[in-house]
Amino acid sequence: MDDTIILSTRDMNLYYGAHHALKNVNIDIPERQVTALIGPSGCGKSTFLKSLDRMNDLIPNVKITGSIQYRGQEIYDSSVDVTWLRKQIGMVFQKPNPFPMSIYDNVAYGPRTHGVRSKSKLDDIVEKSLQGAAIWDEVKDRLKKSALSLSGGQQQRICIARALAVEPDILLMDEATSALDPISTSKIEDLIADLKQQYTIVIVTHNMQQATRVSDKCAFFLLGDLIEFGDTTQLFSVPRDKRTEDYITGRFG
Ligand SMILES: Nc1ncnc2c1ncn2[C@@H]1O[C@H](COP(=O)(O)OP(=O)(O)OP(=O)(O)O)[C@@H](O)[C@H]1O
Ligand SMILES: [Mg+2]
Repeated sequence: MDDTIILSTRDMNLYYGAHHALKNVNIDIPERQVTALIGPSGCGKSTFLKSLDRMNDLIPNVKITGSIQYRGQEIYDSSVDVTWLRKQIGMVFQKPNPFPMSIYDNVAYGPRTHGVRSKSKLDDIVEKSLQGAAIWDEVKDRLKKSALSLSGGQQQRICIARALAVEPDILLMDEATSALDPISTSKIEDLIADLKQQYTIVIVTHNMQQATRVSDKCAFFLLGDLIEFGDTTQLFSVPRDKRTEDYITGRFG
């Protein structure tokens, strides 16, 4: 089966002032698969993820060179509408960060921002998104309650529902389960497996078992270099690079 490439970078470099954080990164991320980014702390995983939906635009002194394309379009082109790009490419963070408002309003927030006013339409979106994030049954009787009253694992699924509500194309997840207990983590891993039927997912994880459980493709970064990228089964069974092997066998990082 041929992979359709949805995101690709060519000779991508990123500098924070004088610090060269990503070096000549070339990667092709396939559609409707899960790609995991792994590597030791500080190797550039979050930096790479944030450059895909232009979150780094908010940081002063960032310079990016080379090409980053989403469905064939240069995302740093001046003609690109960043609001549109961030609707296409949603992000879920490490710490659940629901807004201090009701469960319903959290999920309806994005659609309202994009102009949806009809109550019945919003009701539909909220239900569908909460179902998509596998939390509808747990919250359907208390949609007007504060999202902050939920457990961490539930809050993270609310954040996933909030991301799904604007019907993104791609979901980026930066260590989205590292603050969660094992049961919530396994719920979110199951959810990722379901979501990839419909979405392209890029995750960052420090958990090698998680990478092997949920990802199809895996990218290993070290000090800003993309050392190895390939099928997860191949990368974990017969890594091509000695440094990949040392990392996945726990010799450093
Ligand atoms: N806003 C910033 N300004 C300057 N340097 C930064 C900034 N953000 C990150 N860096 C530096 O860029 C490098 C990559 O950081 P990044 O956060 O992408 O790493 P990471 O792989 O996500 O690490 P971790 O696993 O700890 O989350 C690090 O050396 C970091 O100190
Ligand atoms: Mg990080």
